[in-house]
Amino acid sequence: MAFLLRISRTASLSLKPLLILSLLVFLLTLVSQARTHPHVTNDAFTGTHAFILPSSSDSRSPCPALNTLANHGYLPRDGKNITPSHLVHALKSAYGATTPLAWVLTYGGYFLLRNPPPPASLPSLSPSSLSLSLSSLSHLAHVAKSLPTLRKVLAPLDLSDLALHNHIEHDASLAHSNAPPHSLYAPVSTNHTLLDQLFAFATPNDTFTLSSIARARVLREYQSNHSIDPFHAEVARGEVALVLGIFGSALTDTGNINAGIDMPLFRTWFADNRLPAGWAPKHAQTLLGTVEISKAIRGVMERIGRGGVREAPGVHVVEKERDRPAPIIASPLANVSVSSSSTVSITSNVSAVSANPNLSKAEALFPLYAVDVQDKIVASIWGAGQLVE
Ligand SMILES: *[C@@H]1O[C@H](CO)[C@@H](O)[C@H](O)[C@H]1NC(C)=O
Ligand SMILES: *[C@@H]1O[C@H](CO)[C@@H](O)[C@H](O)[C@H]1NC(C)=O
Ligand SMILES: *[C@@H]1O[C@H](CO)[C@@H](O)[C@H](O)[C@H]1NC(C)=O
Ligand SMILES: *[C@@H]1O[C@H](CO)[C@@H](O)[C@H](O)[C@H]1NC(C)=O
Ligand SMILES: *[C@@H]1O[C@H](CO)[C@@H](O)[C@H](O)[C@H]1NC(C)=O
Ligand SMILES: *[C@@H]1O[C@H](CO)[C@@H](O)[C@H](O)[C@H]1NC(C)=O
Repeated sequence: MAFLLRISRTASLSLKPLLILSLLVFLLTLVSQARTHPHVTNDAFTGTHAFILPSSSDSRSPCPALNTLANHGYLPRDGKNITPSHLVHALKSAYGATTPLAWVLTYGGYFLLRNPPPPASLPSLSPSSLSLSLSSLSHLAHVAKSLPTLRKVLAPLDLSDLALHNHIEHDASLAHSNAPPHSLYAPVSTNHTLLDQLFAFATPNDTFTLSSIARARVLREYQSNHSIDPFHAEVARGEVALVLGIFGSALTDTGNINAGIDMPLFRTWFADNRLPAGWAPKHAQTLLGTVEISKAIRGVMERIGRGGVREAPGVHVVEKERDRPAPIIASPLANVSVSSSSTVSITSNVSAVSANPNLSKAEALFPLYAVDVQDKIVASIWGAGQLVE
């Protein structure tokens, strides 16, 4: 009985109301942020923020931006035990991200990592049993109970956790090989063949432009045989939009739709996960600016068309991948240890949640997305009475 009480207390602390609350806080911050000045640091990367190569025991991710933060001591240099507030602070002080952007990236990221993968990456379910029955209700209750508690979602992470395949990490990454078949985690190390292929898209002026980025993404999606789902394709565009926004040479974030990144900076950062001495953000990188750039990249990619770029200029390195088996779907929280006993483990069978091809229409607004994704997971399981264990 005590156990049941504990369960219901935990369930009432479910993620959704808290996400809605954080969304409200986030919107308020967005409004207040509109009038504040860019947060720009000027740090020559000595002392606390000097570049230090990671040791073999340090934890690193497939994401160059986060590895760079750890290499410069904006995050713990060992890449371990990173809390959300630590990450928010690092994104703001190192990259000039505004509070709303840092919030969305951080809380959206923890949410994606600690929840079942978004439905778009899961096998489809036949819509034959979309009726409300007692068993589907009881299953819904079960799912609600088995969603991770906020405490588990926001537990500190190690950078290597981010390699968990198809949560944040995705196929068709610009400089990382795809996760091997049946593998839970993607490779963390950069693939230098792919890196050279990426750099080959630089313009003759030695800049990396919106067009370079769009063509490189079209090529990688082609090379991965389009195994990236619409949700992660959006995530992937969001990532490169951030890179163009933060490292672009323009003085505003949306100005970077037209300005490129200087290649020496891009190389140092992408290949070595290092910021050149004296580099500082030129402007505050906003959430809306990032969404604008992401839309612009999407527009250029659509104009190029699927498979419209099949090799990098002057580089013939990669064969098209063979079709790969579906990713392993497992609870990312299986190994998260939280000291309190008042937590519920994830036991839901998420492998049958339906796919929704329309997910890509949502903007890169992660909290909205997160609530939406959670709704979709619950809604699709609602109709799946046969799933009751
Ligand atoms: C290179 O720069 C020149 C002038 O600075 C410009 O006219 C030209 O369009 C640029 N070329 C490319 C490929 O970006
Ligand atoms: C790097 O990528 C290329 C092209 O996809 C592939 O042939 C090669 O095996 C990869 N190398 C490693 C170490 O994964
Ligand atoms: C690419 O994927 C399609 C469908 O997903 C499949 O029919 C095709 O055989 C795959 N091509 C290769 C080269 O693996
Ligand atoms: C949990 O740990 C076990 C053994 O250490 C490992 O085999 C498994 O892959 C881990 N699962 C996750 C989701 O990390
Ligand atoms: C999950 O559901 C699938 C399909 O409904 C089933 O084949 C599988 O055995 C289930 N797995 C567990 C652990 O319940
Ligand atoms: C996707 O969107 C189209 C139109 O926007 C709609 O007709 C269709 O039913 C949607 N499909 C799903 C699965 O929501």
